[in-house]
Amino acid sequence: MFPQNNPGQPYSLIRKNRRKINMSQAQVYWHEHAVSRQERETLNGNKGCVLWFTGLSACGKSTIANLADHLLHQSGKHSFVLDGDNVRHGLNAGTGMLKDVHGEEFAKRFGLGFSAQDREENIRRIGAVAKLFAEAGLIAITAFISPYRTDRDRVRKSLPEGDFIEVFVDTPIEICEQRDPKGLYKKARAGELKGFTGIDDPYEAPETPELILDGGRKTAEQLAGEVIAFLKSKGKI
Ligand code: ADX
Repeated sequence: MFPQNNPGQPYSLIRKNRRKINMSQAQVYWHEHAVSRQERETLNGNKGCVLWFTGLSACGKSTIANLADHLLHQSGKHSFVLDGDNVRHGLNAGTGMLKDVHGEEFAKRFGLGFSAQDREENIRRIGAVAKLFAEAGLIAITAFISPYRTDRDRVRKSLPEGDFIEVFVDTPIEICEQRDPKGLYKKARAGELKGFTGIDDPYEAPETPELILDGGRKTAEQLAGEVIAFLKSKGKI
């Protein structure tokens, strides 16, 4: 027997609920899932959601995100980290990485760098992936600078109310620059790296994030604990 969205409703009826989406050049159909999100969440033992970390390079996003992921995993919850530096090696690879396999024209069209438009597309793609993860009943943890408010708000709007949890890792730029684990602030100050966030490219801090983490004063462990406490308070875990 095929699993059903709505017990009692034959699968053939579910198939008829497909929504047709009109696009300018293609006819695309939205297929309803045979297994509902709620069924997946019950199986997983946690609610799906998107924990969206935002902040300057070296503010601690990835470290805190990975610690929170570890804590969740240890307690039997289902989560996964999507991290800027890693995702830019695959789904959102740069022009240089795509050129050899796909050729120059393809790489120019789909490869992503750090212009405002490229960052917009970076966040759009990640937003779409994170949304799928949430629908699969996972706690999607994203760690991207995501410097533009509009780009983050678009992801927020694409999700049901309460699914998008914006986590602002508020670490003063002086501290990020002192840490400088990849030496990028140094390069940006020397003018060898153009358009670096916080130096000669903007960072728009969230106005009303769900959570603000004091990355300048507290340890990553303490901050990961605050994230877990927040998820508990909202009934996600
Ligand atoms: S975002 O702005 O599009 O959200 P993302 O989080 O994917 O950025 O990638 C940021 C990482 O890319 C930084 O941590 C840093 O290692 C690297 N990077 C390389 N060039 C830049 C740049 N111009 N601005 C910011 N980060 C950069």
